[in-house]
Amino acid sequence: MDAAVSPAASSLSDFVRRLPKAELHLHIEGTLEPDLIFSLAQRNGIALPYASVDALRQAYQFNDLQSFLDLYYAGASVLITEADFYDMTMAYLQRAQYDGVAHAELMFDPQTHTGRGIAMETVFAGMARALRDARRLMGISGYMLLSFLRHLTEDDAQATLDAALPLREQYKDLWIGIGLDSAERGNPPEKFARVYARCKALGFRLTAHAGEEGPASYVRDALDILGVERIDHGVRSEEDPALMQRLLTGRIPLTVCPLSNLKLCVVQDLQQHNLARLLRQGLMVTVNSDDPAYFGGYIADNYIASAQALDLSREELAALARNSIEASFLPDEQKRALAASLDAALAAA
Ligand code: HPA
Ligand code: ZN
Repeated sequence: MDAAVSPAASSLSDFVRRLPKAELHLHIEGTLEPDLIFSLAQRNGIALPYASVDALRQAYQFNDLQSFLDLYYAGASVLITEADFYDMTMAYLQRAQYDGVAHAELMFDPQTHTGRGIAMETVFAGMARALRDARRLMGISGYMLLSFLRHLTEDDAQATLDAALPLREQYKDLWIGIGLDSAERGNPPEKFARVYARCKALGFRLTAHAGEEGPASYVRDALDILGVERIDHGVRSEEDPALMQRLLTGRIPLTVCPLSNLKLCVVQDLQQHNLARLLRQGLMVTVNSDDPAYFGGYIADNYIASAQALDLSREELAALARNSIEASFLPDEQKRALAASLDAALAAA
């Protein structure tokens, strides 16, 4: 029987969607669904090298991070106007709300856009208008994490920071942190040591991708050299027991993305994913969707697929939601309020 229609699966889905949770590892450009890519291309008079929405979706077969990144950057090329960034962000926030997301921290890649001649202001304005509308009309809070592309130079990252800083005051309720993404192998954390030191001195919250395809030493270097508070992915940390101990005792969050790891062949099979092992050892792990339009599922799909593949109990699913609140960059008072709403949802479940 199709798992999606079995009674057990549907009640699991209801349980997961009713858990108030935070999404902490989400690339907004990775939420562009093929139909939105097509409609934005049409609106902007851009010709796509795919005959149809289905043909584009068919192309989503990846064998590693780079094969995905090539399509992801191509998909983002339809984003031209403030309204495009608004529509993309609002579509994600509506979908996230359906999945029980109460707070979302959105990574965005300005270099993907400024490199095509799109103004930094256009990117910020469209995303920010959607995030503020969602806060006011839907009760979802959100932050923006400006992410540097690690396949480009550190000078390029510094210039990107220079271009964004004049907007900081205007968007200070949203732009609270920075991240580091794109091709990991061969682009180690130390390449960005100076721009991270600058961001830290400016008071930004710091996160970075590490230990997705890259080795455990990149996780260690992201902590020691970049000074990050949180690690995006980090699943390869398990290769270094001393690092694991440090993640455990320091309660350093890992933003794990199970369906992404499956699609990009970081794991061959969800049953082999180390999420449950990390959680059961007491690590501060969270579950997130990464690039949901490309990886076959939004955040609730990631919780559900993990529960089914790894036999996660309802207590463990609730622990993942609790971790997501704790690991967020929200002020303590808002964390406490969200944790109380999680307790209330569990009491009613
Ligand atoms: N890894 C690295 N860079 C990315 C990813 C990812 O999973 N998604 C978007 N940019
Ligand atoms: Zn990512």
